[in-house]
Amino acid sequence: MNTSERVRSLRTEIEKHSYQYYVLDAPLIPDADYDHLFRELQALEAEHPELLSGDSPTQRVGAAPLPEFGSVTHALPMLSLNNAFSDQEVAAFDRRVREGLAAEGEVDYAAEPKFDGLAVSLSYAMGVLVRGATRGDGTTGEDVTANLRTLRSIPLRLMGSDWPPLLEVRGEVLLWRRDFERLNERQRGQGDKEFVNPRNAAAGSLRQLDPRVTARRPLRFFAYGVGFEPGAGLPATHSGWLERLAGWGFPVAGERRRVTGLAGLLGYHEEMSHRRAQLAYDIDGVVYKVDDLAAQERLGFVSRAPRFALAHKFPAEEAMTELLEISIQVGRTGALTPVARLAPVFVGGVTVTNATLHNEDEIRRKDVRIGDTVVVRRAGDVIPEIVRILPEKRPLSAREFILPKACPVCGSNVVRSSDEAVARCSGGLYCPAQRKQALLHFASRRALDIEGLGDKLVDQLVDSAIVRTPADLYRLGLLALAGLERMAEKSASNLLAAIEKSKQTTLARFIYALGMRNVGEATARDLARHFGRLDRLLAADEAQLIQVPDVGPIVAQSIRQFCNESHNVEAIEQLRAAGVVWSEGEPLAVIGRAVAGKVFVLTGTLPSLTREAAKQMVEAAGGKVSGSVSKKTDFVVAGADAGSKLDRARLLGVQIIDEGRLLALLNATGEGAVP
Ligand code: IVH
Repeated sequence: MNTSERVRSLRTEIEKHSYQYYVLDAPLIPDADYDHLFRELQALEAEHPELLSGDSPTQRVGAAPLPEFGSVTHALPMLSLNNAFSDQEVAAFDRRVREGLAAEGEVDYAAEPKFDGLAVSLSYAMGVLVRGATRGDGTTGEDVTANLRTLRSIPLRLMGSDWPPLLEVRGEVLLWRRDFERLNERQRGQGDKEFVNPRNAAAGSLRQLDPRVTARRPLRFFAYGVGFEPGAGLPATHSGWLERLAGWGFPVAGERRRVTGLAGLLGYHEEMSHRRAQLAYDIDGVVYKVDDLAAQERLGFVSRAPRFALAHKFPAEEAMTELLEISIQVGRTGALTPVARLAPVFVGGVTVTNATLHNEDEIRRKDVRIGDTVVVRRAGDVIPEIVRILPEKRPLSAREFILPKACPVCGSNVVRSSDEAVARCSGGLYCPAQRKQALLHFASRRALDIEGLGDKLVDQLVDSAIVRTPADLYRLGLLALAGLERMAEKSASNLLAAIEKSKQTTLARFIYALGMRNVGEATARDLARHFGRLDRLLAADEAQLIQVPDVGPIVAQSIRQFCNESHNVEAIEQLRAAGVVWSEGEPLAVIGRAVAGKVFVLTGTLPSLTREAAKQMVEAAGGKVSGSVSKKTDFVVAGADAGSKLDRARLLGVQIIDEGRLLALLNATGEGAVP
């Protein structure tokens, strides 16, 4: 692989993991591995500036927000922090800071815990909480005001009177360990699923669409800064701000400290690594910030993270246990993943019984054998991993693992192409495991969103040959369902209603639901925006596909491969015949890209933007928003339950677009991303 290919593959890999982590809250690899990939990419880009491009994950702050909440654009982006794992890296940071400031002596830093929760931003107007948002991708987050208002530790009204008229406070939402235990007890008591760890539980609780659910979860908040420029009468240091925030009623970590120079930083890290276990909440490191705000401003930012701050992480948590067996899981794309079955071990706050071994090469590289004593690592809420084995503890009976030549589920040949580390079952949708995963993906929340179609049910439907393809779902009747185990009539009719409801979808969701390899939610959305119609996507060749932002040759090839399979095209036809519909539009290139000077009419309820937010965005891009449809109207943006304005637009032949295409137009205008 040459450098530019490596850069591209790192970007794809990192994007995948940041989507898993930030959007799905379901990371696949330990933070340390993610950081490793990220640093490799940063290093390559620094070495080869000609390879740097605006769409690299190093050039942005996170991942896309969930569509279900309203979105909020942060006045100042919510950045992330560069990480350090060793004293040398901290020394290098301190050196860069001193050089950047041309400092004569030591620099003063504000040091504080690195909370292991979720970043949020709270906006106050005249001392009153008016909005709360998640970090989202750093630029745009989700409006979770109603949920944040339920946190007792967040002041609804500030104490004192010396606050500025507008204030944006940033901090972290988390659960105390004690509260987390109690919450899980309650979940157990009610027969509900337990949470894996406090961070996960906090994330799940904050992103509840029903704030009453959030209110029953004992979430806490810690303030760690402001999204705000220093001004007259306001503190000139970070530590001064934290004092001020504490004075206005915000919880601020009692462990914060002002320290001087490298020795001060390392001393604080050392101290906190001991105190960590006694804290009421989880921390995964400490954060250092240059204390003087004017100095912060002089140091500025490198694309994604400030030069004036650093996260000094603690080493991930590890434990020792015995590897009892290695079994194989078959994924949606047929990938065979070896999974280590472990003697239960308590690590990183949970009992672990399984760990991923990724692939065959990984097993050889680490020389893992069945019966070995292994070191398991579980950092944050990621899937546990085998770090290494202890050769001195290897029993004589230890056995080597041999990847089966036939799929353990369907018996098809297992193949491994030369450029891939993973071996795959070649059975495609003939393989029940792949079929099940494909169905689950099709029905998942971000795809066609069929509530109630979980893995147990899919197992039964596929095993009893009632359902083979997604289209079969639309042929299900009460009778077939009633015959299944543990299926009450009520849940059967609920499921049928959910299936019926799923027929009304969007092109982006439909494309995503098809489960093409390398086509995630964001790519599906880009494809839908770009082509406007499914037929155009299906007919596009690779050259046309790579015109789509973020679609490279690998993704284009996957899409072509999918479309070349006649059974896939058939499956799409069957779904259409079963009544699955979405609205189609003109491709972006045909609509044109200018918002400036165009007249928009907004009607109906848009899926994520409020009418007001949409209006502001159009106006910010130089467009006009009008209340009534006339011949002068360029676009009618129609949401759910659009009424007479939509009819009138049709009558006058005005271009009708949905929210996704409005956002695409706005993006195209802002960044010139669409050709
Ligand atoms: S300051 C410009 N301080 O770490 C600096 N972040 O990697 C912005 N975090 O998204 C962040 N504890 O969720 C800061 N004491 C602390 C923090 C902290 C945890 C999280 C935060 C942020 C992430 C950055």
